[in-house]
Amino acid sequence: MGIKEKIDLERLPKHIAIIMDGNGRWAKQKGKMRIFGHQNGVRAVRETTEAAAEIGVKYLTLYAFSTENWNRPRLEINALMELLVGTISKEKKTLNENNIRLQAIGDLQSLPKKCYNELLNAIDETSTNNRMTLVLALSYSSRWELAEATRKIALDVAQKKILPEQINEETINNYLTTYGMPEPELLIRTSGEHRISNFLLWQIAYAELYFTSKLWPDFGKEDLYEAIVDYQQRERRFGMVSEQLK
Ligand code: IPE
Ligand code: IPE
Ligand code: MG
Repeated sequence: MGIKEKIDLERLPKHIAIIMDGNGRWAKQKGKMRIFGHQNGVRAVRETTEAAAEIGVKYLTLYAFSTENWNRPRLEINALMELLVGTISKEKKTLNENNIRLQAIGDLQSLPKKCYNELLNAIDETSTNNRMTLVLALSYSSRWELAEATRKIALDVAQKKILPEQINEETINNYLTTYGMPEPELLIRTSGEHRISNFLLWQIAYAELYFTSKLWPDFGKEDLYEAIVDYQQRERRFGMVSEQLK
């Protein structure tokens, strides 16, 4: 029995989030420039997206560029942005053919204009697709998002649109960039690092974490399915005791 057949389709995570890490090390192992790793990471993005859509995952969020990544060497940032523009325009057709909607979270206005326009165009042209939503986290960090949400809530309070005593967890959810999306039940990080790196801190409060030493360009369908099988073997108690779940 293949790994895919081991998945219980009735208990799929609705939302999977992935910290795609290890492109630089992958390239270095091959004696190549870091950007070569990023270029090969695109194949893994394509394959993972296809794999998720194929089995019926509804949301796939990929951490593609963090707020902190702006601190990388200019050369790498430029190459990454170029790659992004090229990939989005090239993959738009495939997204439509596969009925996948593209969305993005993060400080999108901080992206180079060409990148921003290409992204908005792809979001717009895939907006009616409903098989799966692919969310790219770009110039994203959780602290940035939470600070933004706080500022917007404060503004609405100042304008008397909401009262301070009405603010609850749902209010906060509504002001996040992930508004309307289910919380990720499964968070995957590749490359053997065991950290969150400022990704979806609020949203992953109860996510199952899965770490693999595979470097992102080597990640494929089977790896995604393996993570899902692992996820399905866990007992999610949400603070309760095992007996209450029976
Ligand atoms: C992840 O790979 C991709 C991005 C952060 C854009 P890295 O570029 O972080 O690769 P490593 O971690 O240096 O190997
Ligand atoms: C996290 O990877 C960000 C993305 C995958 C886009 P990094 O490689 O930037 O994370 P750190 O710096 O090692 O924590
Ligand atoms: Mg890294």
